[in-house]
Order: sequence, then structure tokens, then C-alpha cells
Amino acid sequence: MALTGNTNPVDASGTQAQPPEQSVIHPLYVRITHWINALAVLILIGSGWQIYNASPLFAFTFPGSLTLGGWLAGGLLWHFAAMWLLVANGLVYVVLGLATGRLRRQLLPIRPADVVRDVAAALAGRLSRDDLARYNAAQKALYAGVLLAGVVIVASGLAMWKPVQLQELAALLGGYEGARLVHFFAMAAIVLFLVVHVVMALLVPRSLRAMIRGR
Ligand code: HEM
Repeated sequence: MALTGNTNPVDASGTQAQPPEQSVIHPLYVRITHWINALAVLILIGSGWQIYNASPLFAFTFPGSLTLGGWLAGGLLWHFAAMWLLVANGLVYVVLGLATGRLRRQLLPIRPADVVRDVAAALAGRLSRDDLARYNAAQKALYAGVLLAGVVIVASGLAMWKPVQLQELAALLGGYEGARLVHFFAMAAIVLFLVVHVVMALLVPRSLRAMIRGR
């Protein structure tokens, strides 16, 4: 034991018992898909703002320094490349999450009264994050919400890309113009989520370490 430098206690069955803080908080597939997703989303936002600026929907444009691709065609190339990365990576996360039961275990149930209680506690700085392996109701609502926003943004993007082949989907979203609005507001929701999410991660650095190293 001294040779390995391992000082974990040995339990009655002779196997080494892991102290609670050493157990895996986020499985490897969650950490890998999370960071690939973060990269894809940042590329999609930058290139999406480039595409938006070429034909703004509202009376403003995004600062050029925050856009990606240099011009409309460059933005489109980045946007489609990152879209496939987001979709493939998202499918891996959802399929493994459903197959292992982890998605249901971590994100459900979400009770509105619990969300209100935990958001109020978080705003008052009283929300405990002692147990990183379990999400509070505010996190559950945010994570389930952003997963839903992900589905909506991909569906509305597909409806704009192939409005003829996917005309039922496009019609459901109010045609090309409706899909464009839905896509924009889903982006706004994801950007808002990202701001809150990154601030929370920086406020609880242990949670950031757990999403990188697993423990
Ligand atoms: C780029 C900066 C990002 C940072 C620093 C970051 C950080 C983190 C951290 C630390 C956690 C663990 C939270 C905890 O244990 O309390 C987490 C979980 C999560 N993040 Fe992020 N994140 C980032 C980007 C994103 C993006 C872009 C999305 C989606 C649009 C996202 C969606 C999620 C989800 C859904 C979870 C829960 C995952 C699960 O347990 O299955 N994150 N993130």
C-alpha cells in the first residue's frame, strides 16, 4: 500500500472503500459530451451572429468582434460544421443518459415549488452545494430547459434549411419567418442560460473541477 501511496481504508470484504469525495461525480461520457457541446455552442453563437448581421431580424446587429467566419459564407460554413457536431454529440449524451437512467435520476422530478424555493435560496446566497453529485431544483429546471431549447433550436434550424422537404415542421413553427423567430429566441434563451451557468460554475469552483476531472 505504501508503494502505491494509496491510503484508502480497506473494508470488511477486503476491497478498498472510497471516501465519498473520491467517488465519480460526473461519468466520463458526461464530461466529454459536456465540453464538446460547450465548444459547439460557442461556435454556433459566433457564426449565428455573423449570419444574423448579414440580414438582421431586429433593429440591431451583434458586434463584429463577437462574430465568427469573417463574412456570411464563412459564418454559414462554421454554423453547419458545428451544428453536426452539436447534433451527433447531443445524441450520444441523450442515448447514454436514457440507457443508463442517469438523465431521469439527475433531472427528474422537477417540482415548481422546489424550483421557486431553490431559486430564492440561490439569490439570497443560501443554496448549499455540499453534495455535487445531486442537482438542486433550480439546476434541474435550468438543465432540462436548456436541453429543450437545444431541441427547439435544432428543429427550427432544420425547418429554415430545408423548408420544402420539411414543410410539416416548417408549418408547425409558423413557416420560414416563424422558424427564424423561434430560432432567434431559442438562441437568446441559451445565451442567457450560459451567462447564469458560467457565473454559477465560477462561484462554485469545486463543481467546475468535478466537470473536468470527474471528482
Ligand atoms: C463554456 C462554459 C461552460 C462551463 C464553464 C460549464 C460548466 C459546467 C459545470 C461546472 C457543470 C456541473 C454543474 C454542477 O455540478 O453543479 C455543468 C453541467 C452542465 N452544463 Fe455546463 N458549462 C459550460 C457550457 C455549457 C453549455 C454551452 C451548455 C448547453 C448549452 C451546458 C449545459 C450543461 C448541462 C446540461 C449540465 C448538466 C449535465 C449533466 O449532469 O448531465 N454547459 N456545466
